[in-house]
Amino acid sequence: MARILAEGSGARSAVVWLKVGAELRPEAAWPMDDLPTEGLAVTADGLPDLEATLALQVHHRGELLGALSLTKPSGERLTPAEEHLAKDLAAGAGLVLRNVRLTEELLQRLEELRASRARIVAAQDQERRRLERNIHDGAQQQLVALAVKIRLANSLEARDPAKANTLLEQTETEVARALEDLRDLARGIYPSLLADQGLLAALQAQARKVPFPVNVDADGLRRYPQEQEAAVYFCILEALQNVAKYAMASKAVVQLTETGGHLTFEVQDDGAGFDTTETSYGTGLQGMADRLAALGGELRVTSAPGEGTIVEGSVPINELAAMAPPEAGLPQS
Ligand SMILES: Nc1ncnc2c1ncn2[C@@H]1O[C@H](COP(=O)(O)OP(=O)(O)OP(=O)(O)O)[C@@H](O)[C@H]1O
Ligand SMILES: [Mg+2]
Repeated sequence: MARILAEGSGARSAVVWLKVGAELRPEAAWPMDDLPTEGLAVTADGLPDLEATLALQVHHRGELLGALSLTKPSGERLTPAEEHLAKDLAAGAGLVLRNVRLTEELLQRLEELRASRARIVAAQDQERRRLERNIHDGAQQQLVALAVKIRLANSLEARDPAKANTLLEQTETEVARALEDLRDLARGIYPSLLADQGLLAALQAQARKVPFPVNVDADGLRRYPQEQEAAVYFCILEALQNVAKYAMASKAVVQLTETGGHLTFEVQDDGAGFDTTETSYGTGLQGMADRLAALGGELRVTSAPGEGTIVEGSVPINELAAMAPPEAGLPQS
């Protein structure tokens, strides 16, 4: 288009500009080397100064989508025929620019999707390493210690039966503790209470473990596909962990609702709050946003210093999967 414009109007150079947000970005130029390197801010009344002999707005369905600009060799002016051609081109360029913009938006969404997928994979790797560490430092050490104690009890059996007995009694308690730890680890992968009884029961059980009162309100909730329930569950746990770590809150309220085909949640605390313009997402909030985005949902965080924090999220309900019998798709424990 830049070439047709330049050649048809006898211009020294022509540029096609695309409006992206509040900026006009140079998209194409003829000759190609004349492509400006920087974009320009769009002004209240439309085009900024494009330093050209003629600059024309490009609209489509009433929306400003970009501009065409051309520069004649110095001392030359546009003839009426050349100006006419340029105006005709600008009038017909709307659809072309809309397509270019759609393609760019699509590419940007793709890039975001790629980045979020990479973050999910990295988070999964990190989670796997955490589990490995927990098994190594926890259950594995406990079992090694137990094996040593049993061996000792065996060797003491003849010489000091009373001591051997005490050792065996100790091992019984420790076996129970190791089992409990392993169960907790397994729940960390996919909580069995969530699989069996759903969000309300699983969240109430977790709410009892945090060091402040949590009210879980989930009236009218039914069962949802595993991936939606798990996403909402883990997001709420991370939000509650953040409350425990940073908010110094006196209480938190968790609310879950099903509205307009979406499963939505809100975790509100009355704690310290934070400046959302200054504090960027850490692994926790970014992981929540990625988890929800992967299911077509979204996350919103509202907070200000001294005013508590509200973390809201929603995921569209996959109705077909939601209608399946509750056992379908759930992991076998
Ligand atoms: N409920 C809250 N009250 C006060 N500050 C919060 C709250 N939730 C989050 N924040 C602030 O937002 C920041 C980012 O939270 P995020 O969960 O993303 O990362 P993190 O908790 O710092 O690290 P990670 O979750 O990886 O352990 C926190 O460091 C904290 O400053
Ligand atoms: Mg966190």
